Amino acid sequence: MHTEIKPGIHWIGIVDWGLRHFHGHELSTNRGSTYNSYLILDEKIAVVDTVWAPFTDDYLAQLRQLVDPARIDYVITNHAEPDHSGALPALMREAVNATVVVSKKGMDSVPGHYHQDWRFKAVGTGDTLSLGRRELLFLEAPMLHWPDTMFTYVKNDALLFSNDAFGQHYATAFRFNDQVDPLELEQEALKYYVNILTPYSAMVTKKIAEILALKLPVDMIAPSHGVLWRQNPLQIVTKYQEWAAQQPQPQAVVLYESMWHATRRMAEAVGDGLADAGVPYKLIYASANDRNDILTDIFQAGAVVVGSSTVNNGFLPSLAPIFSEWKGLRMKNKIGAAFGSYGWSGESVKLVEAQLKECGVTVAHPGILAKWQPKPEELEACRALGRAVAATLKGETKA
Ligand code: FEO
Repeated sequence: MHTEIKPGIHWIGIVDWGLRHFHGHELSTNRGSTYNSYLILDEKIAVVDTVWAPFTDDYLAQLRQLVDPARIDYVITNHAEPDHSGALPALMREAVNATVVVSKKGMDSVPGHYHQDWRFKAVGTGDTLSLGRRELLFLEAPMLHWPDTMFTYVKNDALLFSNDAFGQHYATAFRFNDQVDPLELEQEALKYYVNILTPYSAMVTKKIAEILALKLPVDMIAPSHGVLWRQNPLQIVTKYQEWAAQQPQPQAVVLYESMWHATRRMAEAVGDGLADAGVPYKLIYASANDRNDILTDIFQAGAVVVGSSTVNNGFLPSLAPIFSEWKGLRMKNKIGAAFGSYGWSGESVKLVEAQLKECGVTVAHPGILAKWQPKPEELEACRALGRAVAATLKGETKA
């Protein structure tokens, strides 16, 4: 149901409670998502972004309750990804008088998706568009997270439409941050940052500094997914600055995959060693957990110790997609180590160490390899590894 978020400005999005996977199966969305579209009713009428194509009929029905689509002057498309532009072709069939407003890079991505002969207007950072009583200001935000991404700022309302930035895959009954569980909200905002924006952290830092330097008042941040930041809206900007800095946190993840519990017992011993040294850790059984949640835990940890049994001269295959995605996210400032059990060939530890290095992790201590079930002294070596990793994490020893 549409919601007036400021006088004359309406949320006309869709809440997708059932969504569990995004980008194909690249990203889990265990709390669903929303596709936020906005309608600005002024002397000129503008729509900001649309919704994913399967929801087109519901979306247009909702929009028609507020305005005749033929009266729409501008459809501002901040980003071409189909979760926001999917309903654009159907909207443009009815919004016969509208111009599609895009960033300069959007002149490539939007026509590239739809191949339609629409009227386009390309805008760049600092360009403005008057709607009558209100003026819009455009801010390009390339690689947050596509080249075409831009933000649209409504000067008179101090309202920032930030597209994917500051969003969350989070379906709720409410539209604003002060109406939902703050811990759930932070968890989903963080998961979103980690799995979508981490590779572009340097650009996030730069773009935020550039926007803050403009000293624009910000009364509300309205992203294209999840709830809108109405109460203390800059809190999410501060969080993004913190996440983008990727400072190592004094906590660890022990991630493992095990065939017959030998590596599991080693993992627990590593955890005991970390705890002995006062470092909190999460022990994660890889195949029993969500890959994107694991990566979110890894993002928050300054140290990651990974274990695997050896099978077919390699590590266990359930770790492979985690390493694959971890590499792409280009996380920084982590130390780590490896451990694992074997029966006759024993390659897993060396291979896991190689994967950690490819993920940008500094392998700080030699790995521990145990044959068959670990002997008491091998479990003690795992505890010692945990303590050694903790000491390096705390800066007491060098990596
Ligand atoms: Fe990059 Fe929500 O689309």
